[in-house]
Amino acid sequence: MNSFDTRKAFLDFFVSKGHKEVKASSLIPTDESVLFTTAGMQQFKPYFLGEKSPYGNMVTTCQKCMRTSDIDNVGDVNHLTFFEMLGNFTFGQYFKKEAIQYAYEFLIDTLKLPKDRIWITYFKGDKDVEKDEESIKIWKELGISEDRMIGFSREDNFWGPTGNEGPCGPTTEIHYDLTGINCSLGDKCLPNCSCKRYVEIWNLVFNEFYQDKGKKLTPLKQNGVDTGMGLERLCMALQGKTILFETDLFDGIIKEIEKVSGKKYEDFQSSFRIIADHLKSAMFLIEAGILPGKNDREYILRRILRRAIRHAKNIGLKDFNSILEKIFDIYEDIYPEIIAGKERIISVIDEEKLKFEKTLEKGLKEFEKLSFINSEKAFYLYESYGFPIELTIELAKEKNINVDLKEFDDLQKKHQEISRAGAQKKFGGLGIDIVLDEKDRKEMTKLHTATHLLHQALRQILGEEVKQMGSDINPERLRFDFSFKRKLEKEELEKIENLINEKIKEGLEMKKEEMKYEDAIKSGALAFFKEKYPEIVNVYSIGNFSKEICAGPHVDNISELKCVKILKEEAVGVGVRRIKIKLNNC
Ligand code: ALA
Repeated sequence: MNSFDTRKAFLDFFVSKGHKEVKASSLIPTDESVLFTTAGMQQFKPYFLGEKSPYGNMVTTCQKCMRTSDIDNVGDVNHLTFFEMLGNFTFGQYFKKEAIQYAYEFLIDTLKLPKDRIWITYFKGDKDVEKDEESIKIWKELGISEDRMIGFSREDNFWGPTGNEGPCGPTTEIHYDLTGINCSLGDKCLPNCSCKRYVEIWNLVFNEFYQDKGKKLTPLKQNGVDTGMGLERLCMALQGKTILFETDLFDGIIKEIEKVSGKKYEDFQSSFRIIADHLKSAMFLIEAGILPGKNDREYILRRILRRAIRHAKNIGLKDFNSILEKIFDIYEDIYPEIIAGKERIISVIDEEKLKFEKTLEKGLKEFEKLSFINSEKAFYLYESYGFPIELTIELAKEKNINVDLKEFDDLQKKHQEISRAGAQKKFGGLGIDIVLDEKDRKEMTKLHTATHLLHQALRQILGEEVKQMGSDINPERLRFDFSFKRKLEKEELEKIENLINEKIKEGLEMKKEEMKYEDAIKSGALAFFKEKYPEIVNVYSIGNFSKEICAGPHVDNISELKCVKILKEEAVGVGVRRIKIKLNNC
């Protein structure tokens, strides 16, 4: 069965069991303690904790996920950064019995996977949480013999929470025997063996506990079920493959890389896989609104893109375009948002490629001269040639060069503090790594309000196709990215600035209302990350001029902004422009 039909079969199955199909959330999670969406359950975290779910108590999704812990392992047979997670979830409606029965029915009856290839793992108990006898019993009733079930500890059979705190609980996992892999352990090879003969396809999590920041467990008021099945792994089982990259989710991409590079996959497997996986992740990250840069998510995007570019150079691959087309082909019907952002995605990748290719060659030459790498040398390659530190380590490993990087982090921090004083200060939760003083906080609140004024002014002067793509605020300035096809004329910039300043002079009030997301959209409020908002949202209006869904905070009256000045307008890719503004000094 191909991946398209598999995805559909899963969602149809759970819809037929009374679940509501919910759209995948953005790769940028609502849960602010983590960088990316790494599991299907994240968008539902509040509902596991008792908040009322707007979708009902049983839902199913196919969630796009990004996991960064495995970046350096991508290149082997089965590690990925981007993957899709199929899941069914309930908030208090059913528990272990139904969850296990559904899983069994879907795999064995619907997909017709051979039962004798299925193995089960369960939580064997520890001093805090008892052994999961109930799951063992249910599996037995379904005809799974006890010698096909193995108990594991916390590390393998207990899941969650994501971020610092949240729901979690024991798990039962379904493993599939791929066969065809000769393990040195022979008969003793069992699920979770490092030889990868058994692939974990489905993780059923029984959310019974809340784990707080101090790692203390307390029982949840209502039990929940959170399951996750890796689509790529399920496809391996269904398509009879032992290597992820040979499923239809990668096969076309690998063949295209062969075609464009003129090299054989067999000879350069690792580079081929890295290029395929990293370009895929990059596309979805850019679609989510991330641009390559120096911090957090932006750095991850830069790191994977530059790694793909380096491996492309390895195999003489010059052009990504037709490879990107293959990836678009795979996902266009499932995630229409990536097609909507196609032009922008391609241009951001092209631009990063051009930028890095300029220094890559020289940087590699410098690298060749080194006999060992310490933090100073790695830092030099980073600063002068844009080599992400992880890339330097990878190169060093390939050449058997010793790495000693103890002080790299410190050095990097120091450098950041000197060269970008203040730029680390982020707004609104995503990592306030420097505590803001009162004065800075006030400036940033004003600039946050300026974001709304600028957004509306742009739409009024340039047209409604203008959409906010992102923003970055520090106490000195606001940086605002938006969709628009061409450079702005001087007169247009003047008009935008004048319009904002007129509104500031009018002294309009900033009004905040709570309402249902649907009502907010109906009332004409602009939404930014379209894909995921809570059921009840805050809507901020500035007189009749602007209305946006936003978490705030904002000034009470826009006269507090005094005056806005546009500092710069520039391109950040085809179809994306950037404006910088500051306050007061007009
Ligand atoms: N949330 C569980 C996981 O990610 C299902 O494995």
